[in-house]
Amino acid sequence: MCGIVGYVGEKPAAPILIDSLKKLEYRGYDSAGICVLNDSLKTYKTTGKIVDLESILPQGIEGTIGIGHTRWATHGKPNTVNSHPHLSRDIAVVHNGIIENYLELKENLIGDGYIFKSETDTEVIAHLLHSHLYGGSDGQSKKCDLITAVQKTLRMLEGSYAIAVLCGSEPGLMIIARKDSPLVVGIGDGEIFAASDVTSFLQHTRNVVFVDDNEVALIRNGSVEFFDADGNPVTKETTKIEWDIEAAEKAGYEHFMLKEIHEQASSVHDTFAGKISEMEGTVILDELNISDEQIRHMSRIEIIACGTSWNAGLVGKYLFEQLAGIHTDVDTGSEFRYGYPVVCGEVLTIAITQSGETADTLAAVRGARSYGCQAIAITNVVGSTITREIDSVLYTRAGPEIGVAATKSFTTQLITLYMLALKFARIRGKMSAEDSKNLLVALKKIPADIQKILNNKAVIQECARQFADAEDYFFIGRHLNYPIALEGALKLKEISYIHAEGYAAGELKHGPLALLTDKTPVVAIATKGHTYDKMLSNIKEVKARDAIVIAVANKDDTEIEKYVDVVLRIPRTHELLSPILSSVVLQLLAYYTALERGCSIDKPRNLAKSVTVE
Ligand code: F6R
Repeated sequence: MCGIVGYVGEKPAAPILIDSLKKLEYRGYDSAGICVLNDSLKTYKTTGKIVDLESILPQGIEGTIGIGHTRWATHGKPNTVNSHPHLSRDIAVVHNGIIENYLELKENLIGDGYIFKSETDTEVIAHLLHSHLYGGSDGQSKKCDLITAVQKTLRMLEGSYAIAVLCGSEPGLMIIARKDSPLVVGIGDGEIFAASDVTSFLQHTRNVVFVDDNEVALIRNGSVEFFDADGNPVTKETTKIEWDIEAAEKAGYEHFMLKEIHEQASSVHDTFAGKISEMEGTVILDELNISDEQIRHMSRIEIIACGTSWNAGLVGKYLFEQLAGIHTDVDTGSEFRYGYPVVCGEVLTIAITQSGETADTLAAVRGARSYGCQAIAITNVVGSTITREIDSVLYTRAGPEIGVAATKSFTTQLITLYMLALKFARIRGKMSAEDSKNLLVALKKIPADIQKILNNKAVIQECARQFADAEDYFFIGRHLNYPIALEGALKLKEISYIHAEGYAAGELKHGPLALLTDKTPVVAIATKGHTYDKMLSNIKEVKARDAIVIAVANKDDTEIEKYVDVVLRIPRTHELLSPILSSVVLQLLAYYTALERGCSIDKPRNLAKSVTVE
């Protein structure tokens, strides 16, 4: 995840910025840069680690004001040109977030004579600031002050941002602003820090002011003034941070996994931001290198993935078949690579991999391509190996996932699959504009629905506590909820070490029922939909064997509580989308069970985040 830092004070800025960036390293990044202002802007950028950036800095850079950035690529490759700060003449900017309308803004700026050096969305901010400040690409004299230029620029941006801006002709001044991306100011003794999170300056000050959405702040002469979106001054409270550095990295959460579960409300939004139009019922995936003609003639989809990503792939199968009418197979990388697949007709391979580095997935995709299949990747890591070996890449934009157990990468993979299936369905004439509008309207509400589940997590924690001593757990679901049952079981086993099985609910009677006792919790995903009544029958079968049933059900379902022991509620949404919400419940159930059992949650035994060997 990108991180920004800023310093305005009396000490040399460069070493402070480098130190602050090092404190943000845990967020994950692929390149970094700083810009220091003395009599002019001095910018240094590189790919790799902060120590690499440090090694290219000349000795004794002068200037007591500067900005810095760690980049986690979302638009454009991880290289030096794309890394921040971005400049437009005497303006420098660092940015964390996604500018959704950057292509349109870029086109207009190019028309006005601006030359773009990078592939990033951020560069439009630098040129917009310049154009407002100097009246155009060849403007020489200022038409307004810097804060007015910032305010005019922000009004044109759609999306999320935390920015820090310097201007060569405004020595001693830094302007920062935020919308939907974290930004915090540290108040030191005659010096001010700005950063994406407090860890970056905690060694200098514990007195912080949290910047709110749509606020702009002017930092100069050791003080900071805040303004709202209309330019009115705002009085802000200073908070004293009591956390230690380790807790601060986790933003106060006990584990990265819990932090990442909470981030889903914003990460799923980032995945679809700028890519859907619920007014028109369309999905825009410009990065997809497949013609409409090819989509119409596609005879089969072959999904290849491992672990959690494979579970996401199974959801994809239901979606591609139901919405777009395309026969879909889902294989694990380790099986596909040594199999003898029959490839005839127009087959599209979709590789799903958070890391983009899983050895089995990479080998299987290479195999599929050698059979002549076109291939696309759904991944979270820009520049990862898979992105260099494939026809098109769809990024999930979840931000780095540090906990070994996949959480936000799974739900953002699901969002990507919904978008892809809907796009294919529309092109193949299998879905009406009305139906796709309804689905997209519901999709837009998913971040708020996730937040509601998170706000109510105490009920899930209590349930986890109640059954934390269980030796076996079962998870059952039908249709789209079947892969979610598999994922719920996988999460529980990997972090709590409880034996857990996921089953298609209709399959229990073909064997597994023999294992149920009055000590076995069975999690039944029983959200409203066309298989709901069948799920109720399965729940009754389970209860008849005296097992404990924990249902995941809709908030407005008053029927379910008659048949089960515990109900974990999710908001009512479009039937097709409820798996995303149920996943969040099951992640929390696994998390709190592992917590109760005192397990090593972020680094479970025997597991690695990225499996780069066979
Ligand atoms: C489970 C988990 C793993 C990964 C699997 C594939 O929580 O994280 O099962 O899903 O190792 O990894 P990627 O998606 O990086 O290919």
